[in-house]
Amino acid sequence: MAEQSNAVARLDRRGDHHQAPPYYLPAADEVALFEQCHHNKLAVMLKGPTGCGKTRFVEHMAWRLRRPLITISCHDDLSASDLIGRFLIRHDGTVWQDGPLTTAVRSGAICYLDEVVEARQDTIVVLHPLTDYRRQLPIDKTGEIIDAAPGFQLVVSYNPGYQRMLKDLKPSTRQRFVALDFDFPPPDREAQIVAQESGVPDTTARALVELAHKLRALRDRGLAEAPSTRLLVATAHLAARGIPVKRACQVALVSPLSDDASLLAAMNDLVELTFP
Ligand SMILES: Nc1ncnc2c1ncn2[C@@H]1O[C@H](COP(=O)(O)OP(=O)(O)O)[C@@H](O)[C@H]1O
Ligand SMILES: [Mg+2]
Repeated sequence: MAEQSNAVARLDRRGDHHQAPPYYLPAADEVALFEQCHHNKLAVMLKGPTGCGKTRFVEHMAWRLRRPLITISCHDDLSASDLIGRFLIRHDGTVWQDGPLTTAVRSGAICYLDEVVEARQDTIVVLHPLTDYRRQLPIDKTGEIIDAAPGFQLVVSYNPGYQRMLKDLKPSTRQRFVALDFDFPPPDREAQIVAQESGVPDTTARALVELAHKLRALRDRGLAEAPSTRLLVATAHLAARGIPVKRACQVALVSPLSDDASLLAAMNDLVELTFP
């Protein structure tokens, strides 16, 4: 029986320029920095909270650089074989099947490992020979050593605030990356993103961002995860399609964040204040 791959990988061919560029509003000089890293064959680490634009940035950069993008969502069950590949047993014999990392290395794609700290150390170490001057991927099971095709680039993301202490990248891994810091955009820019992504009027977008700032301040009162730009965009999408904005905030912005009754009440009060 064929063993199933445990990697959730997604191939995105936006790099071939048939589609419009994925919308990305830059925060600073990250576009130029990433381009230079790409041309200088440097691996990149994107640090920042969930939902602040890291994935969108990589999609945008793949488009700009005209590279295919292979995204792998990391989890603690992800094995080296899930990344590299495995022998599949079929009725007519065994065949080798490349994993998503190997596919990216062979084809010169940008390989994006999302939430890389979720993966185990023994999985992460397979990335090491790809991140130094060798740019090689040894495949122990086949004895093959693959030189990365031009254009191959390794990009990882992780959320430094999340599960700190429990999970972290080893220094020997960190030092192989150029690190770009991400955070929620300042209010004007976040409102611009929310309006652009959802089609709500600017005034609604600005009010939603104002509300998000009040909600983010509740982190001191025990709110584990701050409402992200992603949640704001989701809320605005509902509002843009006819759901009353207050209701959209309840279901898309407030309720996903907590199950604690008093926190939920505090958050819904802030919704009332913002959209009376
Ligand atoms: N700078 C930005 N430019 C355009 N859209 C953004 C930006 N930042 C956040 N977004 C919006 O927020 C959503 C979530 O961002 P995403 O890239 O998925 O977050 P992350 O990968 O950091 O968790 C995106 O789908 C997009 O709608
Ligand atoms: Mg992401």
